[in-house]
Amino acid sequence: MRYSVFHVSHHISTKAAMTKEFIYVANWKMNATFRESIDFATTNHDDLLALAGPSTQIVLCPSFDSITPLAQIFDTTPIAIGAQDCSSRAKGSYTGQVSAQSIHQVGCTHCIIGHSERRLLNHESNEEVAEKLIHLLDFDITPIVCIGELLEEYEAGKTQEVLTMQLAPLFETLSALPAAQNKSILLAYEPVWSIGTGKVASVEHLHEIFSWLASRIVTASIPARFSLLYGGSVSGDNAQKLKEIDNISGFLIGRASIDFQVFKKIVQ
Ligand code: PGA
Repeated sequence: MRYSVFHVSHHISTKAAMTKEFIYVANWKMNATFRESIDFATTNHDDLLALAGPSTQIVLCPSFDSITPLAQIFDTTPIAIGAQDCSSRAKGSYTGQVSAQSIHQVGCTHCIIGHSERRLLNHESNEEVAEKLIHLLDFDITPIVCIGELLEEYEAGKTQEVLTMQLAPLFETLSALPAAQNKSILLAYEPVWSIGTGKVASVEHLHEIFSWLASRIVTASIPARFSLLYGGSVSGDNAQKLKEIDNISGFLIGRASIDFQVFKKIVQ
């Protein structure tokens, strides 16, 4: 049977929905070295465990080199470890790339794909992102798929047009993929012009885009479980306001996730 399960947002005023899980993904990018990543994990180990709970999921995404030690530090704890990317190929002569199978073996349960920094700097296409998704699902890794428009596209009112193009190969791939059945997929809307800039779109824009995304997912009738995340200059000051927006069930946090006190403020 084909069906689509969409995680409705935590805003709905039923008891079950009120306690719904909110996901905080820390994308450290290349901002933390191997040593700094381990220091962060060991210094804040207990505080991170105290923050995580039935309604709070935390995913730390260090660079590839730091995944193994962090997965060991947080082994048997609720803190999940994610990679920041993976190859669109399963295996082979692809110098410098890391496969979904490898990140699975070192303890990743999540993986960011399609981040705008990779789309822009590494010219990754929507089709490549869909290929990566297939490999991740093969190894039961939850994909965190990033989509978002550039400033000029936003200003030209083309946000939905851009997102539609970014989503097309993903939806097509997922519809034809038996392995997608019941898998969890995190879809992160990150306006590119909000990333690292301190600029956040208006609540009206975010309301509109998130409800549009929610209905797109329902219409696409994909046999997977989607949650929608927001990313782009999430901070201790704007987190509460963003959490109240319908259909947002998590954040993808860049700069603010490197400083534990700021990260803590966002989660609390
Ligand atoms: P930012 O980054 O929080 O620093 O804006 C978000 C991201 O790139 O995912």
